[in-house]
Amino acid sequence: MVERKKGVIINVASFAATTFFPLTGTYAATKACMDKFSESLQIEYADKGIIVQCVLPLFVATKMSGMKTTLFCPTPDDYVPSVLKKVGVAKRCFGYWAHELQGFIILSLPRWLITRSALDAVSRHQKISSQTTNEKKEK
Ligand SMILES: NC(=O)c1ccc[n+]([C@@H]2O[C@H](COP(=O)([O-])OP(=O)(O)OC[C@H]3O[C@@H](n4cnc5c(N)ncnc54)[C@H](OP(=O)(O)O)[C@@H]3O)[C@@H](O)[C@H]2O)c1
Repeated sequence: MVERKKGVIINVASFAATTFFPLTGTYAATKACMDKFSESLQIEYADKGIIVQCVLPLFVATKMSGMKTTLFCPTPDDYVPSVLKKVGVAKRCFGYWAHELQGFIILSLPRWLITRSALDAVSRHQKISSQTTNEKKEK
């Protein structure tokens, strides 16, 4: 990329990188590391024609999340094109309009409410994931 003087690197972090995340602290910490690493690379390689983008998704309906598709939980087919549209436009973004909205609202909340919603989100996710796993086992 440096020789060609162009290139795009898209790092996938998570919304978990943006705030504290009780019960998933290790995951959130690794994602925060990716977020900061990407920011440093952006600066280091900006004058070499390389774009480094960091995306911080909320829930996407994938194998890992085990979540079902909703307005706020897009399929990868909806999420990925939306992220690609932001290459060169937003170096750090949530990547999808509904995630931008959710991210903005959550990060505007007071700390005690973020704590509560993080705990709710994690336990809801754990419940949905185990339901999905059980459904798959039954098939
Ligand atoms: N889905 C979400 O809600 C969400 C939200 C925020 C951030 N993210 C981030 O998005 C990224 C992608 O996740 P996803 O939701 O797209 O998950 P996914 O659909 O389960 O895909 C994960 C991919 O990683 C591969 N993989 C897993 N463990 C691996 C290993 N040890 N070595 C090599 N490859 C491995 C899997 O390969 P196989 O298919 O062969 O198993 C699969 O291709 C992750 O970094 C995740 O933290 C996801």
